[in-house]
Amino acid sequence: MFPLILSIFLTCMASCLGHLKNVYNIDSSSNGVSDMTQTLLNAWSSACGNDSGGTVNVPSGTFKLNTVTFQGPCKGIVSFKVNGILQAPTDSKGGADWIKFSNVYGLQISGSGTFDGQGSTAWKHTKCNKGSSQSAICTTSLKFNDVKNATIQGITSLNSKFFHLAITRCENFSINEITITAPEDSPNTDGIHISNSNKVQVSNVKIGTGDDCISLGPGSTNINISSVKCGPGHGISIGSLGTSSDELPVQGVTVSDSSFTGTQNGARIKTFGSSVSNNVSDVIFQNIDVNDVKNPIIIDQQYCPGSSCEEKGDSLVRISNVKFINIKGTSTSDVSVQLNCSASVPCQEIELQDLKLTCKDGQATTKATCSNFKGTFEGDQDPPNCSNTA
Ligand SMILES: *[C@@H]1O[C@H](CO)[C@@H](O)[C@H](O)[C@H]1NC(C)=O
Ligand SMILES: *[C@@H]1O[C@H](CO)[C@@H](O)[C@H](O)[C@H]1NC(C)=O
Ligand SMILES: *[C@@H]1O[C@H](CO)[C@@H](O)[C@H](O)[C@H]1NC(C)=O
Ligand SMILES: *[C@@H]1O[C@H](CO)[C@@H](O)[C@H](O)[C@H]1NC(C)=O
Ligand SMILES: *[C@@H]1O[C@H](CO)[C@@H](O)[C@H](O)[C@H]1NC(C)=O
Ligand SMILES: *[C@@H]1O[C@H](CO)[C@@H](O)[C@H](O)[C@H]1NC(C)=O
Ligand SMILES: *[C@@H]1O[C@H](CO)[C@@H](O)[C@H](O)[C@H]1NC(C)=O
Repeated sequence: MFPLILSIFLTCMASCLGHLKNVYNIDSSSNGVSDMTQTLLNAWSSACGNDSGGTVNVPSGTFKLNTVTFQGPCKGIVSFKVNGILQAPTDSKGGADWIKFSNVYGLQISGSGTFDGQGSTAWKHTKCNKGSSQSAICTTSLKFNDVKNATIQGITSLNSKFFHLAITRCENFSINEITITAPEDSPNTDGIHISNSNKVQVSNVKIGTGDDCISLGPGSTNINISSVKCGPGHGISIGSLGTSSDELPVQGVTVSDSSFTGTQNGARIKTFGSSVSNNVSDVIFQNIDVNDVKNPIIIDQQYCPGSSCEEKGDSLVRISNVKFINIKGTSTSDVSVQLNCSASVPCQEIELQDLKLTCKDGQATTKATCSNFKGTFEGDQDPPNCSNTA
């Protein structure tokens, strides 16, 4: 006699298909009706608690889902197949992230479904709009804390209140063929934010948001990003760094075979002027097309967006061994390459090779500016190289 929305149909596919075990189908009759949080949590518990893992199936339809944490560790691999639309509450209650996966080792999220963060009301709040950090109102849509051996495939993340996906203390994490969408003027709606994580791979994704398509915070190591279509948004950024005293280095980042269209930045490294020391090293941005991008290549070591910070002198983040290779297209500003490094810890071993960056009309040349920079220019040099001032 329990309500339909609370019913889970446990389909033991094992009997008919042999290899597919423990499939928990969410009842599609809860479509549009009411909150399915408890239903989904129950399905998660069953799949997570089974020695041979399990699959949670969300069928097509539209389902309301409140703030929820899917807690591990699980006994086996848990798969989430989402083909329907999951809708966040329009106001985030209690300041928690919308959907959090925590301590899960072996996670697969797939399907053609959509995670709709319903962010438009949150974006209007001053806290989200003017602040650059998360608040009780602007929360992340999909948060992964301490998740290992994970794959995310196929899904769409729409209109998050803050970041779309945030990946923290994760390892061996792969994101493929997903779509992330929010309006160009939505604040802090970064597509994928990665921090304190090792071996994260992102490929074949389409991201258009109001902030960075992908941002790599402190402790991002061995990150491989390829085939990203970015725009609108603020580009693919390493940073911001130099914000907290216990930051770990960023090392081993490759961004390749990607395009930026109508974005504020293309390839960017940003660090605050602060007393925080850190290192960024072994970074490659390679084979990148830019179409009408304001700052195609930018290292900004005096990053200080708007009124949310004050310039506090030189950055102590040391940037070394960074390569920008085969970056072509059009810039909407006449400075297409801007390397503003720190006077205290100048950029070292920067290599710029085969750059062809022209003005928006495709004709006029652009400029490169650099300060406190040690590096080389090779191959095509359009803009002409800037003089080495380190
Ligand atoms: C795991 O799933 C199998 C197959 O559905 C079932 O027979 C078994 O009781 C489940 N085990 C647990 C611990 O839930
Ligand atoms: C990740 O998967 C590998 C290979 O299956 C396994 O050896 C390793 O223990 C897994 N890691 C975690 C944290 O479960
Ligand atoms: C990484 O995770 C995948 C599953 O997503 C697993 O097959 C693979 O063995 C893992 N690799 C390592 C080195 O743990
Ligand atoms: C990065 O991923 C791409 C696509 O999966 C692959 O071709 C490339 O070899 C990887 N690069 C590194 C440095 O792992
Ligand atoms: C950065 O690199 C320098 C020189 O290799 C090293 O002395 C320092 O400890 C590193 N800092 C961090 C935060 O890793
Ligand atoms: C970068 O440096 C140039 C030349 O020193 C300067 O004109 C410009 O304002 C700086 N840009 C930023 C974003 O700090
Ligand atoms: C800058 O370009 C000029 C002219 O092509 C070349 O002679 C010079 O070696 C280049 N400088 C650097 C630092 O690559």
